[in-house]
Amino acid sequence: MKKYKWGILAPGKMAAKFTRGLKLLENVELYAVGSRDPERSRQFASDFGFKKSYGSYEELAEDEAIDIIYIASPHSHHFEHTMLCLKNKKAVLCEKAFALNSSEAEEMIAESIRRGVFLMDALWPPFQPAYKKTMEILKAGTAGKLIHLDARFSFQAPFNADDRKFNISLGGGSLLDIGIYPVIDALYFMGIPDEVMAKALFSETGSEESISIIFGYNDGRMATLYSSFRTLAGIGCDLFCENGNLFFSRERDMSQKLVVAMNGEEPKKQSYLPEGMGYHFEAMEVMKCIDEGKIQSDVVPHSFTMGLMNTLDRIRQSAGIIFPGRNS
Ligand SMILES: NC(=O)c1ccc[n+]([C@@H]2O[C@H](COP(=O)([O-])OP(=O)(O)OC[C@H]3O[C@@H](n4cnc5c(N)ncnc54)[C@H](OP(=O)(O)O)[C@@H]3O)[C@@H](O)[C@H]2O)c1
Repeated sequence: MKKYKWGILAPGKMAAKFTRGLKLLENVELYAVGSRDPERSRQFASDFGFKKSYGSYEELAEDEAIDIIYIASPHSHHFEHTMLCLKNKKAVLCEKAFALNSSEAEEMIAESIRRGVFLMDALWPPFQPAYKKTMEILKAGTAGKLIHLDARFSFQAPFNADDRKFNISLGGGSLLDIGIYPVIDALYFMGIPDEVMAKALFSETGSEESISIIFGYNDGRMATLYSSFRTLAGIGCDLFCENGNLFFSRERDMSQKLVVAMNGEEPKKQSYLPEGMGYHFEAMEVMKCIDEGKIQSDVVPHSFTMGLMNTLDRIRQSAGIIFPGRNS
């Protein structure tokens, strides 16, 4: 079994969670960390058992021994950091939101194709048991046609102008941070919408802090989506079908629940708690694809990422969400 040398670019909160997932995998070597701050890099490497630490992202990307780099910087920097890694021939798993807009995403994917180097959007949901089971039930057809989807992701975050959630120059706002999940639900289960309408509420920094979205499909199906840093609406998705309803949800610890309520029957509930908060599934997919000589994943193909980024652009356009100076 080939063992892959992993590098972590931007050792923040998410990178720590992801690394706990990496530690579960036998074909992973925790190799190097790169931070803007040498001390932070050294501390993260020592906390998790990485061999090397670098005080810049450039040094990390240039280390010839590294096979794969996981990027966990703010949304605003995913384009720059992914391009840096791809140019240095490193396979990349890039955190969501993949980019600030679809033109950045297009260039990142073009660079991956031009260099023949693997690139994947780090989307958690499609690898999770509750999600996969939902898709299986829908495909089996017993629930009948999916007519309406209603999904939400919200929690209360104290306002802090410097935090990446509210700092517009770091791509702040609920949409790219958490609203992306209801959007992913609609795209996975219903496809790209024909119509998009959205209304946002803005914070004092000009970042959007709550958003309501409606997707319309020409065959009459609809989706209603919501994200917010102001309410405790939780994380969940209802799928209303001809013959019954499905509901899946997750907690902040990433435990998942699926309820299947077919018309006239007692609801059936199933709970799941994957190891490592389920982040290791994405790492497994990256290494499996590279083993197979692929530069993209079939689970999160480049086409899905482009569909997602285009849809996020359409939502932002409808709601008036602009990232200044970023052609969007
Ligand atoms: N998949 C999931 O479930 C999930 C959950 C949470 C977050 N995320 C994603 O993970 C990414 C990071 O989120 P996080 O919560 O880990 O953020 P965070 O704790 O603020 O960490 C972000 C890291 O980015 C680096 N960075 C580089 N340029 C920066 C800048 N100009 N300002 C601030 N930080 C900068 C910093 O590392 P150094 O200074 O050390 O280099 C910092 O530690 C985001 O894309 C987010 O959407 C995903």
